[in-house]
Amino acid sequence: MVVPYQHEPFTDFSLAENRKALEDSIKLVEADLGKDYPLIIGGERIMTDDKIKVVNPANKKEVIGYVSKANQDLAEKAHQIADETFSWWRKTKASFRADILFRAAAIVRRRKHEFTAHLVKEGGKPWKEADADTAEAIDFMEFYGRQILEIDKGVEINSRPIENNRFHYIPLGVGVVISPWNFLFAIMAGTAVASMVSGNTVLLKPASSTPIIAHKLMEVLEEAGMPAGVINYIPGSGKEVGDYLVDHPRTRFVSFTGSREVGTRIFERAAKVHTGQKWLKRTIIEMGGKDTIVVDKDSDLELAADAITYSAFGFSGQKCSACSRVVAHEDIYDELLTKVATKTKESVSYGDPSAHDTYMGPVIDQAAYDKILSYIDIGKEEGKLVAGGKGDDSKGWFIEPTVFADLAPDARLMQEEIFGPVVGFTKATSFEEAIDIANNTDYGLTGAVFTKNRSHLEQAREDFHVGNLYFNRGCTAAIVGYHPFGGFNMSGTDSKAGGPDYLIHHMQGKTTSEML
Ligand code: NAD
Ligand code: ALA
Repeated sequence: MVVPYQHEPFTDFSLAENRKALEDSIKLVEADLGKDYPLIIGGERIMTDDKIKVVNPANKKEVIGYVSKANQDLAEKAHQIADETFSWWRKTKASFRADILFRAAAIVRRRKHEFTAHLVKEGGKPWKEADADTAEAIDFMEFYGRQILEIDKGVEINSRPIENNRFHYIPLGVGVVISPWNFLFAIMAGTAVASMVSGNTVLLKPASSTPIIAHKLMEVLEEAGMPAGVINYIPGSGKEVGDYLVDHPRTRFVSFTGSREVGTRIFERAAKVHTGQKWLKRTIIEMGGKDTIVVDKDSDLELAADAITYSAFGFSGQKCSACSRVVAHEDIYDELLTKVATKTKESVSYGDPSAHDTYMGPVIDQAAYDKILSYIDIGKEEGKLVAGGKGDDSKGWFIEPTVFADLAPDARLMQEEIFGPVVGFTKATSFEEAIDIANNTDYGLTGAVFTKNRSHLEQAREDFHVGNLYFNRGCTAAIVGYHPFGGFNMSGTDSKAGGPDYLIHHMQGKTTSEML
């Protein structure tokens, strides 16, 4: 029997002992910077000449490490090993696979601050965000370990006096797991271990800006007893290695989290049946968001302003769930805008995330920095800048928390995913109009509503079309097992990470019927 699932508590950094623990871990991580990391294929460590240079986004000169880069030949080798390994891994007991995850979760928990410190450096995450990322990685392992044990119990179906019928889920085969850099630990680990604990073998291609944490996860899983070849670590170019693996006729499924551009490309490519392919590939695809907080005239404006500020600027707005649009009722629009602008200017400290009191760190890289600043220029044409607006890339990629007012609902700033610390305000004349505006994007990931009006909440429950809808709280920070996470429309296939049916997406149902 395993104890019931509970999410990993966040660390209270107001306590001096916790601050010291993380400061010490940051020093340890700093002493370990600049190392070379190999690929891991079938347990074998393979160094390549071609390397990914990983830098700290808060300090471009600080090299976190050099990671070997897979090419198509190495991707093919990894695919063959994953395929061979699947022939016996698929028959292992669910409890054997679940136990690996429970042990891995325990290892990460014991070394929690070390992982968090690494995320501060590799991902540019402020302490609170990095700690939550580590906690979520632990949660995914604990949650999916328990979920496979439940699935293993089977599903009740009817038999008849003349026959004995059974229905159970079996794994799919070799899965390609492609992860983003923003939840560099949690999403990478969650998608990889979900695939693996369901009985599949995995080719793990982490994001090129943050591949080292995935190497660290591999070491943890190996220490926890995961056999060689079950997950294979193959960082590399998205286009070169990603396309090759997605197209591969022996790939059975692709689990992708990232941008709409790449997600739709993978969806199309995976739909093509190649020579020698015996199945239609399964795709689990989670993409971007353009997430809205609606504030009604009858609501707690202080609470709403705090939630908007955190949802927009936590991890520099680099969350698929981040609030990038506010739709406020005209009666409270000015008051709310003033509150958010004041909080942004006075309370959102930004700078080096290694310091414990930094609220907001850098954005991930030069391309992100340039893209966000170009949207800030567009915002100056489309609306009124009321806070922030400047960037500084002399040391790291820093952009001020930025607020725009008076945008039209169809302005580019209100429609396109910016993925940075920029939030835009627009006005609605009624609650109905506010919900219409909230729904007028291609996306449908998260949203929130602030109101004291019960009938408006019920109206939003029915009409606000997003995968994760929150009432009287911000639109980020879903917790595994409590807020199953995934979006509608162009936000993805709504596979609900951390939800009750997540693993089933990685499996197929088999019916057996025996005549008596
Ligand atoms: P991205 O699409 O640029 O990259 C994601 C991954 O895809 C990376 O590993 C990248 O190397 C790989 N890739 C790139 N080209 C590829 C190709 N042709 N074939 C296969 N793989 C390829 O996204 P990103 O910048 O890493 O992450 C940010 C995006 O992710 C945002 O749009 C954000 O909203 C989204 N996101 C969504 C969720 C969610 O749960 N819906 C969660 C986190 C992030
Ligand atoms: N699961 C993350 C959140 O809810 C993306 O913010």
